[in-house]
Amino acid sequence: MQARNTGVLIGAAAGAVLIAIAPAAAADAAHGKVVFQTCAACHSDKPDAIGPSLRGVYGRKSAALEDFRYSPAMQRANLTWDDANLRAYIKDPQAKVKGNRMPFGGLSSDADIDDVIAYLKDYK
Ligand code: HEC
Repeated sequence: MQARNTGVLIGAAAGAVLIAIAPAAAADAAHGKVVFQTCAACHSDKPDAIGPSLRGVYGRKSAALEDFRYSPAMQRANLTWDDANLRAYIKDPQAKVKGNRMPFGGLSSDADIDDVIAYLKDYK
């Protein structure tokens, strides 16, 4: 009995590790492009766009574009848009950069977030 229970536990632990690793490994930039349509409503290349251009945003400092008027909160944020910071901001913009002016509640699906980040890496 004892031995069998241990086996089940080890099996469950291995499963949990696989689930934790899966989203990053499976990030799908093609699907990310579809998800990005939600962002593109504001993050377009038009001069009157509501949001700053996200071309080349991956690896860039926050509030780095000279031709966009960022909120004071975003100007103070002092972040580099790497995986961790993008993930937190896209999931819950107000929690990550309190008082920023992105009128967007965030994406709830972790898979969608990973996919859109995969897309942003190549969006230049
Ligand atoms: C309704 C409009 C709107 C939508 C939709 C939107 N954003 Fe934004 N976003 C903004 C605005 C406005 C800012 C500038 C915020 C500030 O200055 O406080 C911003 C800022 C950002 C920044 C910081 C850029 C920089 O140069 O520092 C990132 C990254 C970002 N958004 C990602 C996204 C992603 C990814 C999506 C889609 C999942 C998205 N946004 C959807 C309006 C939007």
